[in-house]
Amino acid sequence: MSSERILDSRLRERVVSAAEAADLIQPGETVAMSGFTGSGYPKQVPLALAERIDRYHQAGQPFQIRLLTGASTAPELDGVLAKVDGIALRLPFQADPDARKRINDGRLEYMDTHLSHVAQHTWFGFYGDIDTAVIEVSSIRADGSLVPATSVGNNKTWLDLARKVIIEVNEWQPRDVEGMHDVYYGTALPPHRKPIPLVNPNDRIGETALRCDPDKIVAVVRTDAADRNSPFNPPDAASEQIAAYLIEFLQREVSRGRLPAQLLPLQSGVGNIPNAVLAGLAASGFRDLTAYTEVIQDGMLDLLRDGTLKHASCTGFALSPEANEEFKRNLDFYRSRIVMRTQEISNHPEIIRRLGCICMNGMIEADLYGNVNSTHVMGSRIQNGIGGSGDFARNGYLSIFLSPSTAKQGSISALVPMVSHVDHTEHDVSIIVTEQGLADLRGLSPKQRARLLIERCTHPDYRDLLADYYDRALHHSYGRHTPHLLAEALSWHQRWLDTGSMQPGG
Ligand code: COA
Repeated sequence: MSSERILDSRLRERVVSAAEAADLIQPGETVAMSGFTGSGYPKQVPLALAERIDRYHQAGQPFQIRLLTGASTAPELDGVLAKVDGIALRLPFQADPDARKRINDGRLEYMDTHLSHVAQHTWFGFYGDIDTAVIEVSSIRADGSLVPATSVGNNKTWLDLARKVIIEVNEWQPRDVEGMHDVYYGTALPPHRKPIPLVNPNDRIGETALRCDPDKIVAVVRTDAADRNSPFNPPDAASEQIAAYLIEFLQREVSRGRLPAQLLPLQSGVGNIPNAVLAGLAASGFRDLTAYTEVIQDGMLDLLRDGTLKHASCTGFALSPEANEEFKRNLDFYRSRIVMRTQEISNHPEIIRRLGCICMNGMIEADLYGNVNSTHVMGSRIQNGIGGSGDFARNGYLSIFLSPSTAKQGSISALVPMVSHVDHTEHDVSIIVTEQGLADLRGLSPKQRARLLIERCTHPDYRDLLADYYDRALHHSYGRHTPHLLAEALSWHQRWLDTGSMQPGG
């Protein structure tokens, strides 16, 4: 195979520097970029754009863009643009410290959105027009179609709707990733929608490359820079304990006949606890599992290699540098077992419901009745965003939330009287697991849920405190269905803000 990554001669003629490409983006534009959880994001144009914005600001001229992506990106995109105050509005998800700081300081507007909604809301016109798309690809075929890199995200929608397109062809991305993607072109606007013909996690229903009108492509930039590739942290003791409770539960569900021996397709958030769960699944003898998830991280590659997992569907990767090397070395193996989709399909409620996914996500806090806050610390400071957790939690077969029972050196309880922000209501939460235990909330009334969450999931330092709140609420609440003492319900949060601990006198 030729080492040339741009096989369409028309587009080879449009190769320019990143600075020249960034000059094509004007102040006030809505710019849609590729990228999902630190994979497949453009790496040169955003840097050049940040420099251009900074020059404007130095000259006293305003320059900001509205920035849309698939999900989180990296310091070379969110970070640099936030640092120069170049983003007026950001959606749908971020996890960047500089962007987060500006959002929480009130200097950057952020619209936290279900990831499955972004493409359709853009088609509906809810976010206005897309002026420019900046998309990383691994190669351009002779017919001008674009082979995605290590994420697909919203790229199909961005390419379809943007007025002009800038492509980054990244030679760091493995060329052999070609064939792993499945870009579905069958979505339509209501009332013309048809069922999505996907009934197994590994079904292929689309094309292996993205289409784009070549006349819209105004610049092509060659790059050779790595994805974010955060180092892998081995699971800590709390994560391993959480994983152990969860796996024991899944085994029990199999023995009771409520889950098949191969379980149902797994969806797993990213991080320490999900990695521990994946490692635990391998150790506990499960075989021929499947995954229908957003992001593949190190643990899933391990499961694919040892046969625990048969195949996996995703929209992006979040790999450590070592796992990324392994991925590149054995691409043929992974290509036959992984399908990468657009995020409107990887997170589609219709498919999640049909497949019956087992959904496992992290949380900030849960309350006595099982309402979950995934996004806001003390009700007002955004951590990351809801991501795909809502897409999966509401529509999965099992909606499981996992967290240590305390945060910030024990000064915060993850189980509180009332959550300070709600992302997932009690109706969307079936299981909560902390290192203290697992609460199976299925089929329980609010009062039954409260007793179980106090007993099974709450840290001993907070158990009596929560039980005391609940007992008093039972007697003094306005209604006895979901008992609360409204004047006290958020007092734990206020106490932490006032004293640095949720413990009285702490
Ligand atoms: N109160 C205050 N802070 C809390 C907290 C609580 N109850 N629980 C966690 N935190 C803080 C931690 O202290 C940590 O802060 P730091 O970065 O300053 O150290 C931070 O939140 C992350 O917590 P951590 O314990 O490292 O867990 P995590 O990496 O698993 O993240 C979420 C937990 C909830 C932030 C993360 O799962 C998330 O962003 N979820 C929403 C999106 C999602 O679910 N995506 C997957 C769907 S496909």
